[in-house]
Amino acid sequence: MVERNDSADNGPVAFLGDASMRIAVVGCGYVGLVTAACLAELGHEVVGVDDDTHKITLLSKGQIPIFESHLAELVAGNVKRGRLKFTRDIVPASQQAEVIFICVGTPPLENGEADLSAIDKVARAVANNCQTYKVVVEKSTVPVRTGHELERILRVYGARSGFTYDVVSNPEFLREGTAVEDFLHPDRIVIGAQSEKARAMLEELYRPILEQTFKCPVHRNCVERPKPRFLATDIASAELIKHASNSFLALKISYVNALADLCETFGADVTMVAEGMGADRRIGHAFLRPGIGFGGFCFPKDLQAFIRIAERGGHDFALLREAEKINLGRIDHFVEKLRSALWVIADKQIAVLGLSFKPNTDDIRFSPALAVVSRLLEHKAKVRVYDPKAMEKTKQAFPQLTYCRDAYEAASGSEALLLTTEWEDFRTLDWARIRESMGRALVLDGRNFLDAKELAALGFEYHSIGRPKLP
Ligand SMILES: NC(=O)c1ccc[n+]([C@@H]2O[C@H](COP(=O)([O-])OP(=O)(O)OC[C@H]3O[C@@H](n4cnc5c(N)ncnc54)[C@H](O)[C@@H]3O)[C@@H](O)[C@H]2O)c1
Repeated sequence: MVERNDSADNGPVAFLGDASMRIAVVGCGYVGLVTAACLAELGHEVVGVDDDTHKITLLSKGQIPIFESHLAELVAGNVKRGRLKFTRDIVPASQQAEVIFICVGTPPLENGEADLSAIDKVARAVANNCQTYKVVVEKSTVPVRTGHELERILRVYGARSGFTYDVVSNPEFLREGTAVEDFLHPDRIVIGAQSEKARAMLEELYRPILEQTFKCPVHRNCVERPKPRFLATDIASAELIKHASNSFLALKISYVNALADLCETFGADVTMVAEGMGADRRIGHAFLRPGIGFGGFCFPKDLQAFIRIAERGGHDFALLREAEKINLGRIDHFVEKLRSALWVIADKQIAVLGLSFKPNTDDIRFSPALAVVSRLLEHKAKVRVYDPKAMEKTKQAFPQLTYCRDAYEAASGSEALLLTTEWEDFRTLDWARIRESMGRALVLDGRNFLDAKELAALGFEYHSIGRPKLP
């Protein structure tokens, strides 16, 4: 691969020459949009497809409907270069593509299983309208054996036109908040395929990432980045790798949260316990921070779906059921801390800092912060909230809250302040000013994020998770 200068203002890009592929990405949400923009950035010709008209109108103008670092620049730049287009119409997009990525949502049904109806709809549209060979890639998170069903649907609906295809499972491991970086610098790329041809095409498609030879739009000056591992597997194993990984991380979080409760009972400090555990290289520090539990569009739903998948196969995955139970209990535990500090919650003004499920995203799906807010409303508290990016999305779900311009306005006159999402901005607030403005100087830190000693020195009553109360 060589570098070329695309145009004076666009700077050098990875030049893929013959290896550049025509790609359709179906579903332009957090995963699909990042996939489409990053593949275009690498030099592929990409069409993003979504059935949400409003989304497509915005995207076609180079604007993005979500907040994700670096994504707006990548979309706008590649739309301008003509390498990235958007449409509502899956028919021409899939007809012209060599590779079709399915990135639609797989939300939980009431029983916890993944709703695969969007995947089925896309598969039927592709099979009904394509005549030439396509590689159909499942990137959405799906239960093991979905690839098998996908093949069946493509075969049945494509039979009349003589459509030929291969199915590939290529699970996505990006994290919201660092999605572009994670996509371009992953730890591993997993390709589950039965067909050698399809596997080789995907390896070629990802070559600039596998060899880290592209000009990185995130770390402008980065030279050496570790090359990801390329894992070629069968389809079922690739599907299982995704659920197994997310469930393992969820287990780790629930484990440290259970430890935090033990620490509270016995007067130990979970931060020190986690530090001591994490120093063991076999364990590591990641995902050992206690708090009000995990949320978002991945861990809770993937854990539930994995439990249901196991059940369908006749296995009771009790270990995962316990992890889920511990996680659900975090909200009760946190609100009970508040109740015990305030005695009565009803009628009190409470400030909540952070609404998104984690920092650096506007995503509020399955946000623990909003679970806390719901409980406060059940207790009839007067809730004032602030979040740097997630206010607009929250307003639609909770119009009854008081939305504040900043953390200071939320805190002013409040009887307690709850920190529910660890946005970096909250660390550097003027806490002396906040102390002065609050009705009662009470802070409950649901993420063990703030400087406990500093807050105690300023005269706050400071509670956190799994650590002795200060002062
Ligand atoms: N969000 C994450 O961090 C993340 C990470 C890894 C994997 N995943 C998985 O990726 C998948 C997508 O997640 P997401 O967060 O991007 O979801 P999302 O809800 O943000 O995006 C899904 C998009 O698909 C579109 N869509 C639905 N049905 C469609 C159809 N028939 N035709 C065209 N477009 C359609 C929706 O309009 C939406 O824009 C899920 O399976 C999820 O579990 C998500």
